[in-house]
Amino acid sequence: MIYKAYGYGKIGVKNMKVMNDDMLQQLKAGKNAIILAHNYQRGEVQDVADFVGDSLELAQRAKETDADIIVFCGVDFMAETAAILNPDKKVLIPDIGAICPMAQMLTMEELFEAKERYPEADVVLYINTLAEEKAYSDCICTSANAPKIIEAMDADTILFGPDYNLAKYVAKMTSKRIVPVPEYGLCPTHHQISVDDLLEGKEEHPEAEVVVHPECIMEIQEMADHIASTSGMVRYCKESGADEFLIGTEVGLIYRLRKEIPHKEFYPLSDSAVCPQMKMHTLEKIEKVLETERFQVKVTKNTAERAIVPIERMLELS
Ligand code: 13P
Ligand code: SF4
Repeated sequence: MIYKAYGYGKIGVKNMKVMNDDMLQQLKAGKNAIILAHNYQRGEVQDVADFVGDSLELAQRAKETDADIIVFCGVDFMAETAAILNPDKKVLIPDIGAICPMAQMLTMEELFEAKERYPEADVVLYINTLAEEKAYSDCICTSANAPKIIEAMDADTILFGPDYNLAKYVAKMTSKRIVPVPEYGLCPTHHQISVDDLLEGKEEHPEAEVVVHPECIMEIQEMADHIASTSGMVRYCKESGADEFLIGTEVGLIYRLRKEIPHKEFYPLSDSAVCPQMKMHTLEKIEKVLETERFQVKVTKNTAERAIVPIERMLELS
């Protein structure tokens, strides 16, 4: 089979011929490599991956693997986490431009200022942060485990960042006082999914259940039937008695939903909820990093030694 990379609307990538499946498998086997892909990856990337999942599952897989090389098809903070968990392995990222804008929204300066203002607080950082900031947290969380992790902390006040919408979600779901740091961090892709999108979707598909990611704005969360991580959304749609779903997250998840649950219907709340950074990885670039072993993700020893503590703590608590 010849794989093709399809364009994604505005960020368009031209179709291009790449090596066939057998050749890619041989290349991977020869290097004892695996491909991990996030749920938002292009369909053809999901199809060649050894595992497709959410941020938590990808961190768990990265920790468990005995491969020598991990080709990480996700954004920078996910690949960094895999590298921190695997100091003796090569973690390669097919396109080094895959930088999550939300993870850039928390600065060290803001984190230290908040720590000074709330000395008794524990710091729980979303995995969507850079290793430097993770190194100064008490625990990491993802959208799959945020309420559980926050409830497990000793302090009553939690400094939480960078996502404001996830902060509001955990404030509702837990008994803790949540202080968002920075004040309004957000994901541009989820932020643009509007109440109008939801109302239009409901009008067109009145029977559909609304399933959304906690990075969506509060108004959307409040109107949803279910809120979960990306893989949590897949599990919910499999188990629900409903046949139709309006999906409030990045459109890449629709590919996995339709592939794994072909007898149900899935409609994105917004067709333009595309994360351009997630879509940077293509089959051609995956092959290139595997062949050349370029674009190795590196974290300095000092930062990695500190950041691994709250990451491991999260994995133990999950
Ligand atoms: P998940 O951990 O739910 O897959 O979310 C990651 C992410 O970046 C959402 O925008
Ligand atoms: Fe970052 Fe949003 Fe893209 Fe997720 S969807 S990687 S939070 S920009």
